[in-house]
Amino acid sequence: IEAAISDRTIALVGLMGAGKSTVGKRLADRLNRQFYDSDNEIEKAAGLSISDIFTLHGEAEFRRGERRVLERLLNEEPHVLATGGGAYLDPETRDLLREKAVTIWLNADLETLWRRVSRRGHRPLLKAENPKGVLSRLLTERTPIYEQADLVVRSEEGPHKATVESILRALD
Ligand code: S3P
Repeated sequence: IEAAISDRTIALVGLMGAGKSTVGKRLADRLNRQFYDSDNEIEKAAGLSISDIFTLHGEAEFRRGERRVLERLLNEEPHVLATGGGAYLDPETRDLLREKAVTIWLNADLETLWRRVSRRGHRPLLKAENPKGVLSRLLTERTPIYEQADLVVRSEEGPHKATVESILRALD
């Protein structure tokens, strides 16, 4: 993949709280590329928040919308893309991402993810009795799939700058 990286989209995958949006924005700045956040693009296209899409239309419909939005974005010129945490789990969306982008899993441990997501309460999948338990289950279930990304980068607690630097080193 090395030779092709310079002209491919970089797609960040991983769980909620892994830092995909923050790291993605900074990475895009460093690479002088456009940044897209698939959740934001879905919200714009639907005219609804992610939570409202889940409530009004359900998760399956959200996933279809997510795939359509990613199809559109992946045909744009090479950019940095933060995907929603579930995008890479959907087999068709995953194939699309793997075909059109270099995929990077931002891998963080449960405590780090939890600290980050518990600051903000806008994730529909975590509106549960035991949100930390849900997050833990998602981490266990999804790890074997996220691991299939082209690159795996550790996203530690603390400044995202370190994560951006590791990605730049890994891509170099
Ligand atoms: C989801 C993650 C969210 C959002 C939706 C579903 C998931 O994105 O797409 O709530 O299935 O993990 P973030 O990872 O950006 O929070």
